Amino acid sequence: MKNNNSIAAIVPAAGVGSRMQHSAPKQYIKLAGKTILEHTLCKLSQLKSLSQIVVAVSQTDPFFDSLAHIDSRILRANGGQERADSVLNSLLFLENNPPEWVLVHDAARPLVTINDIETLIAHCIADDEGGILASKVKDTIKRGNTHSEQTVPRDDLWQALTPQFFKYDELKNALQRALCEGVTITDEASAIEWANKPVKLIAGRSDNIKITTPEDLDLAGFLLNKQQNEQAL
Ligand code: CTP
Ligand code: MG
Repeated sequence: MKNNNSIAAIVPAAGVGSRMQHSAPKQYIKLAGKTILEHTLCKLSQLKSLSQIVVAVSQTDPFFDSLAHIDSRILRANGGQERADSVLNSLLFLENNPPEWVLVHDAARPLVTINDIETLIAHCIADDEGGILASKVKDTIKRGNTHSEQTVPRDDLWQALTPQFFKYDELKNALQRALCEGVTITDEASAIEWANKPVKLIAGRSDNIKITTPEDLDLAGFLLNKQQNEQAL
């Protein structure tokens, strides 16, 4: 039996961070005094509405268990080959006591604000539809390989962010079926779109960046310091 409107968070954190070219996976790089994963988990732990926070890490991850204890709702699950496999494993981890909704948030996005997460959750629950945080594309977008062949109209282009918030059953079924059929799934929304179900676009802050390359680190460190100083005021 599911609790009405119960919510579990899922944090995919089983990547190796190949584009970061760092000795440890990027979620364990320290910025503003804490690892990126700790910043992310500290943010999520401020949400009282979450029943559990499932973190998918590699089975051989030697770092996770020694992180400072952040919240008793945090649980460790095994990640998978691709991000979508890590999310599906986390959904299966919750199978015996499934929540109504799941909030999937990348470990590598520590800058998300509680305000944006609460807005996403409120809109989705009010309309009984899944949705994602996204930000409208700001730059002029070109299509081409070595030369620009076309300027793509950007009026209806959005950059997908996380969290992504869906009904537990809907996401599990869509992911299982899509992965079984070999569909490329880059985020939860792409599985839901494939299953022909609605995905709400909820405008979120564009500084909710995914820390991906070394260039992202300075900016993320600056923004995390700023957020911490604002909180201390
Ligand atoms: N992730 C995961 N399981 C995987 C791959 C990725 O849980 N098999 C997680 C990452 O840890 C990260 C999030 O999904 O928090 C977004 O993925 P990405 O930014 O691509 O991280 P990595 O895959 O680690 O980095 P890269 O693609 O550069 O190797
Ligand atoms: Mg990756």
